[in-house]
Amino acid sequence: MIIHRYKSVTSTNDVLKEMAEKGAPEWTAVVAEQQTEGRGREGRRWYSPRGSLYLSVLLKPAILPMELQRMPLIISYALAELLMQDGGDFALKWPNDILLNGRKVAGVLLEARTQGKDVHYIVAGMGINISLGQNSLPADLRDRVAVLEEIIGDWSIESMIKRIYSSLKIHHGSFRGEAWERIREKWSDYADWDTPVLLREGNRKVAGYPQSLSDDGSLVLRTSEGDVAVHSGDIVNGY
Ligand code: BTN
Repeated sequence: MIIHRYKSVTSTNDVLKEMAEKGAPEWTAVVAEQQTEGRGREGRRWYSPRGSLYLSVLLKPAILPMELQRMPLIISYALAELLMQDGGDFALKWPNDILLNGRKVAGVLLEARTQGKDVHYIVAGMGINISLGQNSLPADLRDRVAVLEEIIGDWSIESMIKRIYSSLKIHHGSFRGEAWERIREKWSDYADWDTPVLLREGNRKVAGYPQSLSDDGSLVLRTSEGDVAVHSGDIVNGY
């Protein structure tokens, strides 16, 4: 495993993607103390000041494009599992948010290069809020984010990177067969099935009660028009 460390980058995902294009081996990683253009899902910005973890890891599993939708769930589960080791009220929110005390503490941004039936690589970008200087947080984030410093644990960035690597290695092949079934079950154990949600998928909004996680990684919602599987998008809120 080769870890490239930077003081500041635009986005660790972008730096690692460039390395991947030049043939970097699997498990190459980029970690930065801060990001100037950190990216979240759905084109959002990921606020990335010093004090938290911004890590991207290059994965090259023998996965098919149709199985890719399972990967965010696997990576977020792998992260949640290691964070939970020290206790704390953690939960998972589809597709790849990790919540602490009901607020977002970590997010995962996966970017894959595919061609036909081949997945050349996956850049798994992980942002974990360790300490954000709550007072300097943009107002719209203040009530919605949590930091690991709220609870006691070993939150040093170095030890966190080591633990992430071992968790990713354990779950590296979990996108198929029994291993995927186990992740699906465990992921479901930590998700909130009681709060109705409004899900935005492109221009479409679907309101309903989350029912289950499908085999392909989509979320099944019970709506007024029956059960609907949602493949991408964001849970806007409970409503
Ligand atoms: C989300 O929840 O919207 C995903 C957030 C992912 C943020 C991480 S930080 C490291 C990597 N580099 C980025 O620009 N984004 C991901």
